[in-house]
Amino acid sequence: MSPVSEQQRRYLDAMGIDVWVRRDLVLPESESQAESVVAEVPEPATPVQAPDEGLPDVSELDWEALRQRVASCQLCELHQGRTRTVFGVGNEQARWLIIGEAPGVDEDRQGEPFVGRAGKLLNAMLQAVGLSREQVYIANILKCRPPNNRDPRPEEAACCFPYLRRQIELIQPDLIIAVGRIAAQRLLDCNTPLNRLRGSVHHLESTGTPVIVTYHPAYLLRSPADKRKAWEDLLFAHSLTTGE
Ligand code: URA
Repeated sequence: MSPVSEQQRRYLDAMGIDVWVRRDLVLPESESQAESVVAEVPEPATPVQAPDEGLPDVSELDWEALRQRVASCQLCELHQGRTRTVFGVGNEQARWLIIGEAPGVDEDRQGEPFVGRAGKLLNAMLQAVGLSREQVYIANILKCRPPNNRDPRPEEAACCFPYLRRQIELIQPDLIIAVGRIAAQRLLDCNTPLNRLRGSVHHLESTGTPVIVTYHPAYLLRSPADKRKAWEDLLFAHSLTTGE
């Protein structure tokens, strides 16, 4: 069992994860560090991303121009039902870029990703590895809410991908964390089940950025027994970016 600091224990409590540790293994705050998960790295999924034919070139845009382009986007039919576009939020020099699926009803209203119940759990998951929401960047595969929260369609994801890719180019994160099957499969352009994508380092075809995969917080709200696995995924991510 790995040593767990008091601070991490508080956050794990917030995530609803029970951690059983021998008293003698609990380290003082300053000495504690998340233990790396030893990852056996299997073959990466073969990434094949949609070509951009017919899509506007946003590869030269700066943050403000990109933001404006997204706000006025009408490339797919989702623009008809949106209240607001959900561009993304966080530190534009973040080391971790978290990518979810698509805005839900709360995000569509507020124009910010992961602000509902799933977002609160995502915040707790980040805090469990010592990161605040403000330290990372958070975005979605889609910038507009699909009706009735249906899955993003491949053509919608393809229309939106140049925006996300430009964000990735601007941020230049050390690591992308894909939360949930949809984000993972769209980013890696594969149909591999989430469980087989977890625990490995994949790479984004277009930028070469390392990608790891974990559960979507909305799934974890329904299946809290898997929170421990999500915690392991975040420790794995932590070990990749800190070398610890
Ligand atoms: N689920 C997502 O995938 N993204 C959000 O922004 C909110 C919920």
